[in-house]
Amino acid sequence: MSQEHAGTESLENLLHETRSFPPPADFAARANVTASAYEDAARDREQFWARQARELLSWSTDFTEVLDFSGAPVARWFGDGRLNAAYNAVDRHVEAGHGERVAIHFEGEPGDTRTITYADLKDEVSRAANALTDLGVRTGDRVAIYLPLVPEAVIAMLACARVGAAHSVVFGGFSAEALHARIIDAEARVVVTADGGYRRGKAMALKPAVDEAIAKGGTPVEHVLVVRRTGQDTAMTDGRDVWWDDTVATASAEHEPVAVDAENPLFILYTSGTTGKPKGIMHTTGGFLTQTAYTVRAVFDLKPETDVYWCTADVGWVTGHSYVTYGPLVNGATQVLYEGTPDTPDKDRWWQIVAKYGVTILYTAPTAIRTAMKWGEELPGRHDLSSLRLLGSVGEPINPEAWMWYRRVIGGDRAPVVDTWWQTETGAIMISPLPGVTAAKPGSAQTPLPGISADVLDEAGQPVPDGHGGYLVLTEPWPAMLRGIWGDPQRYQDTYWSRFPGKYFAGDGAKKDEDGDVWLLGRVDDVMNISGHRLSTTEIESALVSHPVVAEAAVVGAKDDTTGQAVVAFVILRAEAVERADEEGEGADVVAELRNHVAKEIGPIAKPRSILVVAELPKTRSGKIMRRLLRDVAEGRPAGDVTTLADSSVMEQISTGMSG
Ligand code: PRX
Repeated sequence: MSQEHAGTESLENLLHETRSFPPPADFAARANVTASAYEDAARDREQFWARQARELLSWSTDFTEVLDFSGAPVARWFGDGRLNAAYNAVDRHVEAGHGERVAIHFEGEPGDTRTITYADLKDEVSRAANALTDLGVRTGDRVAIYLPLVPEAVIAMLACARVGAAHSVVFGGFSAEALHARIIDAEARVVVTADGGYRRGKAMALKPAVDEAIAKGGTPVEHVLVVRRTGQDTAMTDGRDVWWDDTVATASAEHEPVAVDAENPLFILYTSGTTGKPKGIMHTTGGFLTQTAYTVRAVFDLKPETDVYWCTADVGWVTGHSYVTYGPLVNGATQVLYEGTPDTPDKDRWWQIVAKYGVTILYTAPTAIRTAMKWGEELPGRHDLSSLRLLGSVGEPINPEAWMWYRRVIGGDRAPVVDTWWQTETGAIMISPLPGVTAAKPGSAQTPLPGISADVLDEAGQPVPDGHGGYLVLTEPWPAMLRGIWGDPQRYQDTYWSRFPGKYFAGDGAKKDEDGDVWLLGRVDDVMNISGHRLSTTEIESALVSHPVVAEAAVVGAKDDTTGQAVVAFVILRAEAVERADEEGEGADVVAELRNHVAKEIGPIAKPRSILVVAELPKTRSGKIMRRLLRDVAEGRPAGDVTTLADSSVMEQISTGMSG
């Protein structure tokens, strides 16, 4: 049924992308959501969301008010309703008689497994909630979670939600520095961590980073709750640190979930902005759960009785919040949770997992798909992937070639592919095909979901006509929208609502094709997207400059075949360091040292792919670094227009250095 275009011209060129894949007839016939959803939502957007909120969630107090945007740009959804997120994700499925259904198939990297039913999950989350309460956590508090991707990460998040405390999950790959800053900003009283986790066959310690973060001082941390994962030697501070095994495991499995206001904070998650300080994106309960639950049903077409769902994201990112912990569990899904990397012990580990558990829905990132392409189709070819019936992509634009490969090699040319656009700030999927409705175009997120309003605007704030590009905006409030930046309402207003007054500016470029479908074109600000994770150029520059040999640094994101973008840094060394390097021939050492320094300050994900030591940086007369020119160099192009440079010879020197 799918018609394939035989052309071989560059598929990156949108004007030539004519392939389209309508939903298979049997898929469409059984789809959870049909085309009428768009009409329903268009007729009355607020009532559409109110219906979803009531159908998909259990409220301890029903709401009478749907949307209140009088405090714009801070919205209130279902404001006078009350509910508990953990009750919705766990208890009610047990009460409905599904206690024996598997909630989580856990696969540890070394090959150990755990099967956790909804009844087990209810007991574990209740125990953890009692243990957190014993450690002093109260409704309204914040708890930092710094864990590998093990079931306790999900359990800890839900335990916080159960007592009405907000969690702040910090990705386990982030450094002690990053953790310290996040603990302080959120004023977390308790940190949940582990002795370590498995990565590429090694036990990587985590707890020492927590000790280091707290030792830096200034944190309000009273207790550290430590999961035993690897069994490695772990220093414990008396009176402050407790083992999960000694507290959670022995706590009562009876715990009454605390009903909170719909607008009670559910979590804070830090993300990069254009300035150095990470933004604590704040999400609340009722609206977030409504839209994450709706999108799992609508976009992934989840059938909880029969599907085995797997989202490969770590809980340290928003995808792990919305599409590991909350969205699937609120729907009563059975899901796979895998701790490790895709190449351990071998490069076919993911495909082996799909076959082993009979995964039916797979949600991953373009960077992973491109890596799998690079490793070759022989590896997935070794396994029976015929259980897969839906494939999703998120995190960055997916090139049409990768989309086609994903569909053909992983999806057996049968499973629909949904390219889902959203952000930490949006909380849930916003623009995506509906798999039973939309004829999918390789590389396009296509259409705002029912109940979502988006547009592409020109510089002047006017919608662009079909066939043209501009800035992506969201024109109406949506249930899972962020409620602000933790502790910084002004920055919330300035970052998202000032570029186009009254509209949410996402920071992404986009284009409408001739059919009005949306194609995402990447960030328009100084934020890079490395393997689907946002990193700010400023943060990495600050990390570089914090090293004693660096005088100045400029960082750009350069196109990278695997990771989408890669970090490329240009540094000016301090005079003393230059002399030393000249004398002792230490140039290469300096670069290696700086790369490691960035990994230590921020995390290995931020490590520059290359660092070029330069004598000068290209600047305008007002002193602004012209990153555009550096990007040209980093991507191997001749530098563009240099007429606004204060010193036009600078680019020649840099380009010579790059090729030399
Ligand atoms: O630039 C867009 C890109 O990722 C950014 C959001 O990053 P983050 O908050 O870390 O959340 C990632 C997971 C939702 C966006 O501003 N992005 C995300 N999904 C897509 C995308 N770009 C193109 N297509 C997508 N499907």
